[in-house]
Amino acid sequence: MNLPRLTLFLVLATGAISLARAQVYPVTSLDIQQTVQKTGEPRAGLNSLGSTMRIGGKGFKDGLGTMAPSKLILDLKNNGVRFTASVGVDDSAKGTEGSVVFRILGDEGRVLWESQPMKAGDAPVVVDVDLKGQKTVSMVVDPSSGDQPLPVDWADAKIELHSNVYKKVDANTVPAYQEPAEILTPRPGPTPRITGPKVFGVRPGHPVLFTVTATGDCPIEFSAEGLPEGLQLDAKTGRISGSLKEKGDHAMTLRAKNASGEASRPFKIVCGDTIGLVPAMGWNSWNCYANFISDKNIRDAADAMVSSGLVNHGWSYINIDEGWQRMPQAKDPALKPPTRDPSGRILPNDRFPDMKGLIGYIHGKGLRAGIYTSPGPLTCEDYEGSYKHELQDARTFAEWEIDYLKHDVCSYNKIFRQESKPGPSNNLTKPMDPNSPEYRAVLQKPWRVMREALDTLDRDLIYSISGNVRDWGKEVGANSWRVSSDVVDSWLEIENGWRMSVSEIGFDRFREAERKGGSGPELASPGHFNDRDMLVVGHVGWGKSHPTRLTPNEQYTHISMWCLLASPLMIGCDMTKLDDFTLSLLTNDEVLEVNQDPLGKQADRVSKKGDLEVWSKPMEDGSLAVGLFNRGYLPADVTANWKDLGIQGPRKVRDLWRQKDLGDFQDAFTAKVPRHGVVLVRIAPKDNSPAKP
Ligand code: GLA
Repeated sequence: MNLPRLTLFLVLATGAISLARAQVYPVTSLDIQQTVQKTGEPRAGLNSLGSTMRIGGKGFKDGLGTMAPSKLILDLKNNGVRFTASVGVDDSAKGTEGSVVFRILGDEGRVLWESQPMKAGDAPVVVDVDLKGQKTVSMVVDPSSGDQPLPVDWADAKIELHSNVYKKVDANTVPAYQEPAEILTPRPGPTPRITGPKVFGVRPGHPVLFTVTATGDCPIEFSAEGLPEGLQLDAKTGRISGSLKEKGDHAMTLRAKNASGEASRPFKIVCGDTIGLVPAMGWNSWNCYANFISDKNIRDAADAMVSSGLVNHGWSYINIDEGWQRMPQAKDPALKPPTRDPSGRILPNDRFPDMKGLIGYIHGKGLRAGIYTSPGPLTCEDYEGSYKHELQDARTFAEWEIDYLKHDVCSYNKIFRQESKPGPSNNLTKPMDPNSPEYRAVLQKPWRVMREALDTLDRDLIYSISGNVRDWGKEVGANSWRVSSDVVDSWLEIENGWRMSVSEIGFDRFREAERKGGSGPELASPGHFNDRDMLVVGHVGWGKSHPTRLTPNEQYTHISMWCLLASPLMIGCDMTKLDDFTLSLLTNDEVLEVNQDPLGKQADRVSKKGDLEVWSKPMEDGSLAVGLFNRGYLPADVTANWKDLGIQGPRKVRDLWRQKDLGDFQDAFTAKVPRHGVVLVRIAPKDNSPAKP
């Protein structure tokens, strides 16, 4: 480079550096639609209800109005300088009970600033926060008292970012801050360890379909001591088949042997009226594909269930959700009518050319198969439902050798409304009283109809029901019943709409134990479980798959909570995209044992101090499975006190995710729990005798 050119370069470069400056962006110039909140809409320049922002009598023209609880995360691309705003509860909430706390969070949920609890009518509070060194900033409003949504204002909210002439600052939103995905589940060793349920229910004369599973180096040879007459066990595959004529309990010992050693475990087959004695564990197509499914997707999932090794941990169902049927009003030629043949038999669509072959393929892998229908004329997505064809459809499912039926209310709601209000279909003079036995009977009718149809079959089908069914699932003979609307892969934040977040379904709503005087939801018992909807770990997305938006700790909490609550466990992700972390969440046998415990009880909350909660589930061996949860933004010490757990004296504590003994504790156990995370332990009497209440 010659001298004049070099000088010119230096002049330009120096000029560029000196031009580097900070630039102020109103928050509303960013993508505020990424704000997550329970209800209502985030609005620019207005409060969330759509009128002028007003805090403590002072009006504001600019800023972001949200409905608390709400959260907006902004990616600063390391260019953050400063955040400023005037915040408060909007005056439109005057007269409403409740207060909120505003927080500005930096990386890893660090609280950079937080307000005192604020209520409607309080004067605006000025926020001025240094953002230097932060990659992200989160604007969060949480309730501090009351649980009603409140309109809140981030008036005049501005972000200052470094900018320079070469780099256009591109502030954007990000789904969640990064948290390391630490794998806690130890890898299984070479010697066999028998996994899966310890009990299996079957009805007299019906085929037994049970595969004994184990981890350890292959090949493994399986055997059972005390296998009753009528049943056989395949030593190579571990499959138990055959049937039992009479009712009765059959205790036996399962053995698994390989070149490194041998394992044994007690097992019981209970031949009686109740099946599904422990929560079902498997995969369902909905959270990944929605209704865009085909024979291939289902076969791929079955293949992956085996090749990933999940099958060795007791995962056994491959369930086809909505989308296998035809549609009366189809636009897509693959779904076109007729939806049934002239005899009324339901017809799968062109994407399922050989349903019986597909089910045979699933069974051939030692897995079981599930299918979906609705008691209404149409399913939720307008495919053919089972209305007035219940028995015929149940028989068709049995003929295809289906093992699990998900029966989902969908269009039956319309029929229900017709039957409970005066109209041509009844003699009512006024709408039914929602507390009357008649109303309950109408509400329960479709579930009983299908129950009766299933009872006529010579095959056991797990009966899983979904819809407005949570208060009486057991009464209508369901093995599991949904307690919530559909889950979404978010934590506290709830997308606008009807879906519910993991923390809401797990912690807040539908606490069966809160039922009073025998009304309200049933608690779990063997063969009857509260279903908290499918899992949202791995790649999920209802047709457009993305990695779950739950952080790693939120995923630990999700799986731990679903296990503690004895919910059916249905993996909802793309099985062809299983990563190591997701697999580690789904293959921890000590954690899964909490879910599969033969006692069939669900956990209840035993203590709550702000964001810190302790939940406890009694286990068959007298120990307690205990979750120490931290729902807050910062790591915290959580203590499980023996008095809250109803136990006394020294206890040994084992960390279930790490599969590690933590030692003996006298009257309490304390653990450091990460943000939105959990420490899941088993607390057992030192001498192994049952815990004394
Ligand atoms: C409802 C159910 C979901 C899924 C869809 C199918 O929303 O709750 O689990 O089965 O229907 O349309």
